[in-house]
Amino acid sequence: MRMFDILKNGRWRLCAAAFTAGVFLAPAAYADTVIVTADHMVDTLNGTVTDNPVVTITDGRIVSVSSGAAPETGDDIRRVDLPGMTILPGLIDMHVHLTGLAEIGGYRMFQYTDAFWTVAGVANARATVEAGFTTVRNLGSSDYADVALKQGIERALVPGPRIVPATYAIGVTGGHCDNNFLPPSYDAKSEALAEGKAALRARVREHRKYGAEVIKICATGGVFSKGTTVGEQQMSVDEIRDVVEIAHMLGMKVAAHAHGNEGIKAAIRGGVDTIEHASYLDDEAIRMAKEAGVAFSMDIYNTEYTLAEGEKNGVLEESLAKERQVGGIQRESFRKAVAAGATVVFGSDAAIFPHGHNARQLPVMVRFGMTPVQALQAATSKAARALGREGDVGAIAAGRYGDIIAVEGDPTRDVGILTNVRFVMKGGEVVKDAR
Ligand code: ARG
Repeated sequence: MRMFDILKNGRWRLCAAAFTAGVFLAPAAYADTVIVTADHMVDTLNGTVTDNPVVTITDGRIVSVSSGAAPETGDDIRRVDLPGMTILPGLIDMHVHLTGLAEIGGYRMFQYTDAFWTVAGVANARATVEAGFTTVRNLGSSDYADVALKQGIERALVPGPRIVPATYAIGVTGGHCDNNFLPPSYDAKSEALAEGKAALRARVREHRKYGAEVIKICATGGVFSKGTTVGEQQMSVDEIRDVVEIAHMLGMKVAAHAHGNEGIKAAIRGGVDTIEHASYLDDEAIRMAKEAGVAFSMDIYNTEYTLAEGEKNGVLEESLAKERQVGGIQRESFRKAVAAGATVVFGSDAAIFPHGHNARQLPVMVRFGMTPVQALQAATSKAARALGREGDVGAIAAGRYGDIIAVEGDPTRDVGILTNVRFVMKGGEVVKDAR
């Protein structure tokens, strides 16, 4: 429609008139300020605990952080006092699938219609934010359901975390991110398959067009896909490079699912930003990641859940066997990577276990070599850096969103208390108060 046509159209003329009137009639907007106080605060940027924090948040963003007595406030300023509690920045999970359900595994998925998974996503988004995870990277979903969820959450239709959506995971025919569950006559396949230069590049652009903010690729086989082995490399270095070149050009990071050692190295050579799972790490892979500034996002909690509940949930015996094979090895790789000083961020792959249980991974990270403070940083400041979002999430610091959670006790001594988050604020708004 040309401008002339718009102005000719009555509806548009009306809008234009209302807009013009609004300029003169709208009252001046007042800032919304909330002050949060508590007994202690975990400063994830410095790895320290401070006493009597006073955090001032205006219009959803933190404007100042100080300590001492809280100032007297008038009626125009909201106050949230959390006596006896320790506050931390909202947690970040670098790897979730909000539209997946651990309880429905293997072939049981086919009993549900396509849009069911979006409905599940609404419930999962709430469970996630109420567990204290105020930012998540959704590394793969169908039907652009993660973009829809993000839009619904941003419009305050449903509660949920800030979402960095990948839309569909990009993979190859028969690979981990394809659908290999049905015989050829059903012609079942992922809608985001791409092979060869042109197709891969086009796929990245298409994802971007429909709302992706990060690109997920499947560089090796996996545990929950049918007919793949965790060790097999599934994309060539050249293919990975094509994805990365276009994604980076468009300002998106690339997350590579990779268990096997060769696939991990290919992904690092190809220029990806994070390696998901990272199960088979030799010293060279760790060195390469450190040199390239690549972060490992290792889902080392879900082994327990899958081995205990997987069979009951309908998970294929093939997948259970692969979990038995890879779980212990991945944890030893985690220990090696942490000891070598590699960047390891918090990524849980929630959907393999129930959403909202994400923090159960923190004690496992400590069991396999992190200090409690390192584990907390992996889920806050370090994750924010790996997301490229240091400006707005991952710390209680001026400029960032007012995403604050509270627990009872000292999480720098026992990260397990984060499985019992009592209070959650997102962008200065209280999401949960269970004190
Ligand atoms: N989505 C991953 C896959 O199917 C989950 C792996 C879970 N197991 C593990 N030990 N991390 O490969």
